[in-house]
Amino acid sequence: MAAASKASGLDDGIPAVKVIKPGRCAFVHVFVALTFVAVPCVLLYAPRFSVPTPRRGAAGFVVQRVGSSGVVVDADEAHGGGVGPVVVLDNQVGSPCASMRNHAICCDRTDHHSDVCFMAGDVRTHAASLSLLLFPSPSAGTAAAAADEQQVVERIRPYTRKWDAFITKTIHEVTLRAARHHPDDDEPAAAARHCDVVHAAPAFVMTAGGYSHNLFHAFNDGFLPAWLTSQHLLRRRGVVLAVLGYNTRWAARFGELVAGLSSSSASAAHHHGGGVVDLVNDNRTHCFPGAIVGTRYHDYLAVDPARLRDNKTVLDFHDFLAAAYGPRAETELDRTAGRRPRVGIVSRRGRRVVENEAAVARLAASVGFDAHVINTGTIINGATPPLSALYKTVAACDALVGVHGADLTAFLFLRSGAAALVQVAPLGISLLSRNLFGVPAARMALRYEQYDVVGNESSLSRKYPPGHVVVADPARARREQGSKEWDLVEYVYLRGQNVSLDLGRFRETLARVHSWLMMQRRSALPAV
Ligand SMILES: *[C@@H]1O[C@H](CO)[C@@H](O)[C@H](O)[C@H]1NC(C)=O
Ligand SMILES: *[C@@H]1O[C@H](CO)[C@@H](O)[C@H](O)[C@H]1NC(C)=O
Ligand SMILES: *[C@@H]1O[C@H](CO)[C@@H](O)[C@H](O)[C@H]1NC(C)=O
Ligand SMILES: *[C@@H]1O[C@H](CO)[C@@H](O)[C@H](O)[C@H]1NC(C)=O
Repeated sequence: MAAASKASGLDDGIPAVKVIKPGRCAFVHVFVALTFVAVPCVLLYAPRFSVPTPRRGAAGFVVQRVGSSGVVVDADEAHGGGVGPVVVLDNQVGSPCASMRNHAICCDRTDHHSDVCFMAGDVRTHAASLSLLLFPSPSAGTAAAAADEQQVVERIRPYTRKWDAFITKTIHEVTLRAARHHPDDDEPAAAARHCDVVHAAPAFVMTAGGYSHNLFHAFNDGFLPAWLTSQHLLRRRGVVLAVLGYNTRWAARFGELVAGLSSSSASAAHHHGGGVVDLVNDNRTHCFPGAIVGTRYHDYLAVDPARLRDNKTVLDFHDFLAAAYGPRAETELDRTAGRRPRVGIVSRRGRRVVENEAAVARLAASVGFDAHVINTGTIINGATPPLSALYKTVAACDALVGVHGADLTAFLFLRSGAAALVQVAPLGISLLSRNLFGVPAARMALRYEQYDVVGNESSLSRKYPPGHVVVADPARARREQGSKEWDLVEYVYLRGQNVSLDLGRFRETLARVHSWLMMQRRSALPAV
């Protein structure tokens, strides 16, 4: 990350550290809004009862046959009169957009993390203005209503960190509006009505940009929210991903997830391969029976069933991953029931490195594990292998061990209910570690162990004089920084620290996990 750096000492007399303006480090900023976790259920439910929900006619949009204009011909679902089964684009409990009219645009901007907009009706892309245009139905309602709709112009940058101005301004802004029909307007009506590519499923606009080079953010900001916003449509015709900032690196790394989210049945006469629309660069007119722009966001790597009309949980997301990456090697694992539990040790380079990693791997073996070191290398090096390789490696593990960092997001690939995550939390970031990975791992029914590093295990104990507050009492050191707390966290605790694990103490953690796994295994075996 190129960064405007300035040398600066923190106010506390500790050695000078490089200070980069907050906002430059992708990983640190996930820390904001921790309190979200603690919101009692009653608040989550409240909007259901307190928000006056506009109920104007049919809920959702109607998949319909639009004959002569050459658009949506959805033979399976449309019935003679042009009115078929109702498809609700918005799956959020209590959202005003869940009951929007057909041929309408509805945006929900109430959430702290993200805006999301829905377009019900005949939607066509207009690449030159990066717009989605809503065309009136042939059997248009009253002239007044049509005129009403033509006033609507919504602009949205679809990303899940709307409180993060630094990254949000890098996200493409999409304009949603009713198509105009005046001859003197900026787009020729006749040409605009022509569809180059006709899709049978609604468009789902997401970005390949933001912090997607970071595995935590790729899931937390991107794929998990995308799934929870669109999964209810998957059992129908799904959605067609219309991607902002589309690039081949993103497509190659996350190909299976992209294919899993984007409907391949969305074909028509002129459908091109891939099932993904490069919204910025593809100047053809793509036509869709509706659109979703942006995603919902529930919490760190979270799916809150109470907010979804179909009560889906993170375990359903887990199933989605398994389907996207193909079946696990369960049969192989079953055949080798007598084998040692397999632990994957996530190896980091550069920062938050386990200095005695080889000794830790030997320790794991001596505790009874089949130990593997997993080199992910996604944080420091730009070049990254397809995620499917990491998925297969981690899915075959019974436990994952690693220092806090984005690559630990791979815990999502463990078998829920049957595997364990051991997170090593370096000095000063214990709570951050627990909130980002510990809490989500528990929701995924993993056995979670957090190993909080103590002073003499941290490289900071070599950098600071004995008894220095940064090592002796990180919580106080952070408090004392006041508004510069995040500089201390980012440049000292996150970037300036390696760990050397106390093998005696770490053995206890590994042994607990090992015996839990053996117990799981015994209880899974049929009684003799
Ligand atoms: C789309 O872009 C291509 C290549 O840039 C160009 O040849 C073509 O004329 C454009 N089509 C339209 C409809 O603008
Ligand atoms: C979701 O949960 C609610 C409350 O428990 C229940 O009333 C509803 O039927 C469930 N819906 C589905 C689709 O399972
Ligand atoms: C490190 O500190 C812990 C207590 O914080 C102590 O039990 C342990 O013996 C120390 N180890 C070394 C090598 O000094
Ligand atoms: C941590 O270890 C890595 C790899 O050995 C090294 O490059 C880095 O300088 C170390 N950082 C600190 C703060 O000791």
